[in-house]
Amino acid sequence: TTVRIIGAPMDYGADRRGVDMGPSAIRYAGLSDRLERAGVDPVDAGDLAIPRAEERDPDAGGPNRGNAKFLQEVEDICTRLGDQVAETLADGEFPLVLGGDHSVAIGSMHGAARDADLGAIWFDAHADLNTPETSPSGNVHGMPLAATLGHGAFAEMEWATAPRVREESIAYVGLRSIDERERELVRDSEMTAFTMADIDERGMTAVVEDALDVATGGTDGVHVSLDLDWLDPKAAPGVGTPVRGGVTYREAHAALETVSERHDSEEILRSMDVVEVNPILDEGNETATLGAELTASAFGNKIL
Ligand code: ARG
Ligand code: MN
Ligand code: MN
Ligand code: MN
Repeated sequence: TTVRIIGAPMDYGADRRGVDMGPSAIRYAGLSDRLERAGVDPVDAGDLAIPRAEERDPDAGGPNRGNAKFLQEVEDICTRLGDQVAETLADGEFPLVLGGDHSVAIGSMHGAARDADLGAIWFDAHADLNTPETSPSGNVHGMPLAATLGHGAFAEMEWATAPRVREESIAYVGLRSIDERERELVRDSEMTAFTMADIDERGMTAVVEDALDVATGGTDGVHVSLDLDWLDPKAAPGVGTPVRGGVTYREAHAALETVSERHDSEEILRSMDVVEVNPILDEGNETATLGAELTASAFGNKIL
């Protein structure tokens, strides 16, 4: 497998500046070497060119866009990213997107779902199901799943919606921080949500096996979205929206190893993104290192 690394140094979607340095930090943590050791061929496509937030207007889209800062810029980048991801797949390579804040997943999934029915596993503390209408923060990194599903104002935004991603093919793993509106939406939806309590009760491996069943059922492939705030802040301090009580270092590896084992037998993986690494908030690049390690685990890195 050739894995094409696509950097998306975008921080328009988050309040805390600094996630735009995520791709550099993850590369510096030895991503390519780790992928080679895992047995795949990494090719680095470099970074998308993304203007600094300081030179853009957060309200460029106008009031009709609701409460969503820099939505115009997110649209521009996700459109270009979606094209790159689709091209990568058309070339027979695997798209690995390095964020950037989680809004880059709108582009990854739009591209990966262009020619295929796509399932998704959302490794995250958050539900990321807000819309410009419901968002308490106006930060688009809290909205990528709503965008992909075409909820609310996103219904009219062709760049955001990915009709070939259906609710019943999406599984959350590790959910523990959810806004009141999101809670209702998740409950009323066809999505499957495994919270931290499910992991406590059943163990990570069993939960991820079930999540894989959800994401592979009736789809052509799976998108893995890895938000580093999925982990406990003790293991991954370099994130803008940390939430206590997250998964441990070991559990995280077990999860991605479970994905890798299923991929070995059934070739289920189609695309992946690693997001929300903020080197300014990090301690000695450990969150970026963890992102690189977990990616290698997803591609089959093992002790023996
Ligand atoms: N639910 C909150 C919001 O909408 C936090 C979202 C955090 N998302 C993330 N990808 N870190 O602002
Ligand atoms: Mn997220
Ligand atoms: Mn999150
Ligand atoms: Mn489209």
